[in-house]
Amino acid sequence: IPVDAFDIVIFGGTGDLSQRKLLPALYHRYLDGQIPDDSRLVGVSRSEMTDKAFREFALKACKASAGKDFKLDDWKGFEKMLSYVGMDATDPGADWAALANALSTEDRPTIFYLAVTPKIYVPICEAIGKAGLAKGDARVVLEKPIGTDLESAREINAGVGAVFPEDRIYRIDHYLGKETVQNLLVLRFGNTLFEPLWNRTAIDHIQITVSESVGVGDRAGYYDSAGAVRDMVQNHILQLLCLIAMEPPNSVSADEIRTEKIKVLNALRPLTAKCVDGETVRAQYGAGTVDGKQVKGYLEELEDGESDTETFVAIKAWVDNWRWARVPFYLRTGKRMRSRHSEIVVQFREAPHAMFGEEQAQSNRLIIRLQPDEGVQLYVQIKEPGPGGLRVQSLPLNLSYAESFQVRYPDAYERLLMDVVRGNLALFMRREEVEEAWEWVDGLLDAWADSKTPIYSYSAGLEDGPVEARMLLREDGRDWWSNGK
Ligand code: BG6
Repeated sequence: IPVDAFDIVIFGGTGDLSQRKLLPALYHRYLDGQIPDDSRLVGVSRSEMTDKAFREFALKACKASAGKDFKLDDWKGFEKMLSYVGMDATDPGADWAALANALSTEDRPTIFYLAVTPKIYVPICEAIGKAGLAKGDARVVLEKPIGTDLESAREINAGVGAVFPEDRIYRIDHYLGKETVQNLLVLRFGNTLFEPLWNRTAIDHIQITVSESVGVGDRAGYYDSAGAVRDMVQNHILQLLCLIAMEPPNSVSADEIRTEKIKVLNALRPLTAKCVDGETVRAQYGAGTVDGKQVKGYLEELEDGESDTETFVAIKAWVDNWRWARVPFYLRTGKRMRSRHSEIVVQFREAPHAMFGEEQAQSNRLIIRLQPDEGVQLYVQIKEPGPGGLRVQSLPLNLSYAESFQVRYPDAYERLLMDVVRGNLALFMRREEVEEAWEWVDGLLDAWADSKTPIYSYSAGLEDGPVEARMLLREDGRDWWSNGK
C-alpha cells in the first residue's frame, strides 16, 4: 500500500548502517511503488560532500543490495529524491537552514533517523528542536543500543523526550521487523491449538538461540565496550522472550502489545551475585575454523590484545509469574559459532504415561526457525511403518516459508521504515521497555563483576560454544537443541 509523500533525514547518512540497510531498504520500497516520487531523502554527516557524491554513494549501496536485479532506469527516479547536507548536527549553530531548505515546504511528516552513536542522540535532538524542525508530525528514530546501562538509557529517553513526545519516538530493534518474529504473534494468537498448552503445565522449558558465524570484524572498538549481553541480550533476545512469554494482548495495537511485553520484563527474576555462577556462562572465542577458513581469536582482533568482554553468553532465566512458574528459559547467543542460525525451541513435557516403553518416549517440540531457512516445525511421535512390532519415531510436521511463499522477503528495515512513515508504533519499543530491559541486564553485569564470574573460552566454529554452556543444561538433565539436532 503506497504512503503519502514524506521527508526523511538520515544522520550518519554516509555511515555503515545507512549504506548496508537504510538506503537499500528505502530503494526497495520505492521499487515496489510504496514511496511517492516527490518524497525527499537527505543524508547528513559531518564530512563535506556534494549531492552528486552522495548519490554515487547511495548508488553503490543499492546496487550491492539489489545485485543482478539492479536496473539503472529504476534508479534514476529514486536518485532524484536524494540530497546531502554536510554539518555537525550536534551543534545548534550549524547550518540548520541548509537542512530546512532541503526539506519540502509542504505539510508532511519529517522523519529524523539517528544512525549515529547513542552518545549524541540528545544533542542532535536538542539541535533539531532549536532549529524549529521538531514541530508538527515530525518523528525521530533511534537505533539500538539506547545507552550502555539504565542510567544512560534514562538520560537519553529524558533528553529525546524533552523534544519529541513519546508517540513520535521510534526505538528500533530490527529483530521485530523480521518476518518470522512477527509471525510469533500470529502463530501464538491466530491458532487455537497452542495457547491452551502455552504454560507450565504442558511446557518443560524454552530455548532461545541466536548464533552467528561472524566475528566482530571492524566493529571491535564498539563491541569491546559492549559485549554480547549489551549487544544482543538487552534488546533482540529479550524482545524474543517477551513475544514468547507475554499474555495475549487485547488487540495488536501498539500500546496493548507493548504493555504486555513490559509485564514480562517486570517478571524477569533478577540475576544476583549469589546465583549468577550457576545460571549463566560467559565466554570469548579463540582462534578456530569457520566455513573451512582459519579465523583469528577475539583478542587478536583487538588493538591492545586484552579484554574480558564476552562474545558468548548463556543464561538460565526465569519469568516469575503464574503462567511460567518453574519453566526455565535458556537463552544463548554468540559470535564465531559454526553457523548463523536463530531459533526458538518450545520443549513440551513428556507424555504422562510411556505406553510404548520408556526408551521410545519422546516429548513434543515446537521449533520456530527465525533465520535462515525460516519456518516452523512441530515434532510429533509417529509409528515407524512395517510389521516388526510397534516402533515409534519423533518426526517434524514441517512448514517452510520458502516453500509456502515464493516471494522476496523484505529486509526488516523495509518493514520498520514504512511503519515509521505510517505512524505504526507496534514494532518499536516504548521507553519503559528499554529501561526495564536495562535494569535486568545491569543486574546481570553487576552480579558478574561482584562474583568475579570467570570468562571461559571456545574455539571459533563450535556448534554449541563453550562446553560450560552445555553443562548448564546437562545439570538440569537437558540438552541444547542445535540447528536441527
Ligand atoms: C546487531 C548487533 O544488532 O544485530 C550485531 O549489533 C549482530 O552484533 C546483528 O551481528 C545480528 O543481526 P541479524 O539480523 O544479522 O541477525
